Amino acid sequence: RPGWPGVIKAYASRIPIPEGAEIVTLGEGNTPLLFAPHLSELTGCTVYLKVEGANPTGSFKDRGMTVAITHAKASGVQAVICASTGNTSASAAAYATRAGLTTAVLVPQGKIAMGKMAQAVLYGARILQIDGNFDDCLELARKMAADYPVTLVNSVNPVRLVGQKSAAWEICDALGQAPDIHCLPVGNAGNITAYWAGYTEYAADKVISTVPRMFGFQAAGAAPLVKGEPVPNPETVATAIRVGSPASWDSAVQAKTASGGLFEAVTDERILEAYRLLARREGVFVEPASATSVAGLLLTAADGRLPKGSTVVCTVTGHGLKDPATALEGNVEVEPLAVDPSAVAAALELS
Ligand code: F0G
Repeated sequence: RPGWPGVIKAYASRIPIPEGAEIVTLGEGNTPLLFAPHLSELTGCTVYLKVEGANPTGSFKDRGMTVAITHAKASGVQAVICASTGNTSASAAAYATRAGLTTAVLVPQGKIAMGKMAQAVLYGARILQIDGNFDDCLELARKMAADYPVTLVNSVNPVRLVGQKSAAWEICDALGQAPDIHCLPVGNAGNITAYWAGYTEYAADKVISTVPRMFGFQAAGAAPLVKGEPVPNPETVATAIRVGSPASWDSAVQAKTASGGLFEAVTDERILEAYRLLARREGVFVEPASATSVAGLLLTAADGRLPKGSTVVCTVTGHGLKDPATALEGNVEVEPLAVDPSAVAAALELS
């Protein structure tokens, strides 16, 4: 088969699957590691963006979902379930439908971005909106999976995180070494856990000689890891990371501590500034949660915690088209101008 085979085949020796299992893949992984000239200039560092919106369903979740659904299919289960702020549900629905499985998704009512809802609908998921937040949805999903023959495919399913390690490996393979610092948005804290596991695995096998410091950034209204205690009513424009009680809390703290990294909070205002800057200066349209890593990069560059000259990777976790409403809200300084076809050149001030 031509081209990139997806992460399970690309990293076959590192991503074990059950004997004889049929691999369920949509060709995830192999996403761009894009040099960011403007951010590099602003920070005095060499900054790269790991553009995870380029995955098949538009977020990094696909790296773990190929593994989770491959295992679920091999186990003979008929259905999978997840709680989600939108991206996990879109990814689960796509991979499960590809495998001929039913997907049930539990989402917080009115708090998932439109593009993500559109995906779950089109992939044919059973969508249940819960009057509560992500943490309530996850508690319910865990209970359903414990009581009924349905597999939980949230990142508390350990095989999800095995697949997500592949992003760290791709970065090291591309750079020929690990970056000095890795910046990530943190919600339920599975991804920072997976990246750290991926880096330490490569270091243990001597593929790389150093590991990066892990910088995890949360939205100020949903920053339990920064505060050191759960947030009962998390609130942020970055709905993807509107999580008050991260499931992978301990392993995220371990990643931060063992790497000499940090957790920091960034305001919604700074997140939206980074969101616009990424689109306008780097040509990279991401969803608001993804811009949290870049807002954190700029914050730590300004206060001196980001050493100049570092090689930094910021993961931008999801595509901008996931959340078109936020792109248009408050970001359009000039309303699209209605013009007569004959007046286009004049309107653009072309001579
Ligand atoms: N960025 C995006 C776009 C996400 O969708 C998520 C998590 C994160 C960052 C944070 O990753 O949870 O591993 O720390 N979204 C989950 C979901 C909660 O349901 O799609 P994390």
